[in-house]
Amino acid sequence: MTFSTETSAPLVVIAGITGKQGGSVARALLESVKPYRIRGLTRDITKPAAQKFAIAGVQLVAVALTVGNEDGARAAFAGADVVFAVTNFNEHIDKEREVAEGKLMVDAAKAVDVKLFIWSALEPFGTLSQGRIPDVLFFDSKAEITAYAKSSGIPLAIVQAGYYATNIFDGVPYSLKAQPDGSFAYRLPMAGTTRVPLIDVEVDYGLYVRAAIELPALGAGSEVLSGRLISLNEIIADLAEVTGKEIVYSQIDRAPFVEAFPFQPLALTIADMCQAYEEIGYYGSKLPSSEDILARKPKSWREFLKATPKDGFPVEIRPA
Ligand SMILES: NC(=O)c1ccc[n+]([C@@H]2O[C@H](COP(=O)([O-])OP(=O)(O)OC[C@H]3O[C@@H](n4cnc5c(N)ncnc54)[C@H](OP(=O)(O)O)[C@@H]3O)[C@@H](O)[C@H]2O)c1
Repeated sequence: MTFSTETSAPLVVIAGITGKQGGSVARALLESVKPYRIRGLTRDITKPAAQKFAIAGVQLVAVALTVGNEDGARAAFAGADVVFAVTNFNEHIDKEREVAEGKLMVDAAKAVDVKLFIWSALEPFGTLSQGRIPDVLFFDSKAEITAYAKSSGIPLAIVQAGYYATNIFDGVPYSLKAQPDGSFAYRLPMAGTTRVPLIDVEVDYGLYVRAAIELPALGAGSEVLSGRLISLNEIIADLAEVTGKEIVYSQIDRAPFVEAFPFQPLALTIADMCQAYEEIGYYGSKLPSSEDILARKPKSWREFLKATPKDGFPVEIRPA
C-alpha cells in the first residue's frame, strides 16, 4: 500500500513522523480507502523511521520546528490541507520551549491557511485544580498551546493522546521494576483504583486522528479523546494473569516517591501528574471518545500484552 501522488488528494503534513504519534497517524491514513498525499516532517530524513515512510510514498521534509526557524516551518506546512502537530516535552523537559514550539506550529499553519489543524493536546491540570496541582508541566504546556490555537481562529481539532501502554514497561522512570525475589513492583503515589485511558499509541492513536479528519461530525471545532479507561489495579491484575508472574501494584506516599525518584528534575512533575490523574482525571471530567468513531477496533490491554511478549513482557524489565 502506498500514498497517493494525485494533486486532487488532500495533503496531510505530519509533524514528528518518525515518532510514536506521528508514525501512528501516517499508518492510520495509509490504511484508509481515502487517498491522501503525506508530507512527513523530521529533522533527519535519513533515519530508518523516516525512510520506511518514504517507501510508502511519503514526501519527507527535513525541518527543525524550533523558534528561529519560522520560515522553515511555514515552508514545511505550505500547501497543506491538514496539519497534524505534536510537541515533544520529553526531549528537553522545558515547558516554555514546548509552548514556543507549539505556538510556532500554530502560527505557521495559520500563515499558510490550512483547512484543519489537528493538535495533540492535554488537559490544563494547573487550571482544573485551581492551582493546587501546579507542576504537571507537559500537560499545562500543551493546554497553553490549545488556548493559543483557539484564540488564533485557526480551524482546530484536538486529538488528545491517552496514557501509553508502553509506560508500564519502559520509556519513563516510573515503570515496572524487577525485584530481587523475582517478583515485579509498580509503585506510584496514586490509588490503584485510579483509571487512565490506556492506548497502544503506535498502533491506535492514528485511528482517532483519522476519525477527526474523515468524519463529517468531527473536523474543525471537535475534540477527540483517545484510549480506553482501565484502573491501575486492573492493569496489574491482567498483566500478572497474562504473564503468570507475581506483580504487585502499591500506592506509595508522595514524599518517599519524590525523594527516590530516579530523575529529580521531573520528580515533582510526576508526583503531581499522579495526583491529577487520581483527583481530577486524565481527561478532567470528560470521558474517552466512543470507539464507534474508529475505522477499526483499538487493541485492548490484554491484546497488547499478547501481541508483543518477551519472556511474558513486551520488553525486558529492569531491576529497581
Ligand atoms: N507517554 C505518554 O503516556 C504520553 C501521553 C500523552 C502525550 N504524551 C506526549 O507525547 C509527546 C511525544 O510524542 P511522541 O510519543 O510521538 O514522541 P517521540 O516518539 O519521541 O517522537 C517525537 C517526534 O517529534 C519530532 N520532533 C521533536 N522535536 C522536534 C523539532 N524541534 N522539530 C521537528 N521535529 C521534532 C521528532 O522528530 P525527529 O527526532 O525525527 O526530528 C519525532 O518524530 C510528549 O510531548 C508527551 O508529553 C505522552
